[in-house]
Amino acid sequence: MNEQTKLGSWRNAVEQRRSVREFDSRPVAEADLRDLIWAAQGKTDASGNRTAPSAHALHPLRFFVMAAAVDTMTPGLYEVEHDSGELRLIHDRDIRPALETAALDEQPWVGAAPCVISVCADFVTPVRAFADQPPKGERGVRYVYIEAGASAQNVLLQATSSGLAGVLVAGFDDTATAEALSLPDGISPVLHLCVGWPAKPVDG
Ligand SMILES: Cc1cc2nc3c(=O)[nH]c(=O)nc-3n(C[C@H](O)[C@H](O)[C@H](O)COP(=O)(O)O)c2cc1C
Repeated sequence: MNEQTKLGSWRNAVEQRRSVREFDSRPVAEADLRDLIWAAQGKTDASGNRTAPSAHALHPLRFFVMAAAVDTMTPGLYEVEHDSGELRLIHDRDIRPALETAALDEQPWVGAAPCVISVCADFVTPVRAFADQPPKGERGVRYVYIEAGASAQNVLLQATSSGLAGVLVAGFDDTATAEALSLPDGISPVLHLCVGWPAKPVDG
């Protein structure tokens, strides 16, 4: 692919990305899901550089995937291994109803999306690392939200490039969401990306 074509496809993805909340019943291909996971914060080379920027390269984001309809995968909740990027099955239950219940207001797309990628984070490490920077105690938290936004946009643009679509959902009860995701101590939910094939053509 030459530079002009690359730039063209990136611009197309930016122009065509729209929040989509209705999905058709086609399963997502595992290869497409792996591309989304890689776009989120995957490694780009052997020295450990990653697709999304991170303050002091602390990389505090952690990713969990409720793969409800992914062609070759056992339906269930997966954790993305931080170092390898591999998907590890946590359990084979469908947590989408619990995530939907935890959402603020009515958000049926959370319960219906073929895939829900939950972007979570270790807030403790960046808060400690940036404790001396003003506003003290808050700087690290800000950085985590900025990083989550950068990662989310990567995923949405990758989804658009693959013909998939999705919506960023950040309106939810944190405690109920953390419970639904069985998050380990020290890890908190930041946002979900509900992804699938759009039910109707997307207006770019
Ligand atoms: C921080 C943030 C939180 C959001 N939370 C939700 C949400 O809880 N539920 C939802 O359906 N959409 C949510 N959205 C998606 C916005 O509603 C959407 O981006 C906006 O309507 C603009 O449409 P567009 O994405 O198609 O450009 C959120 C977007 C952002 C950036």
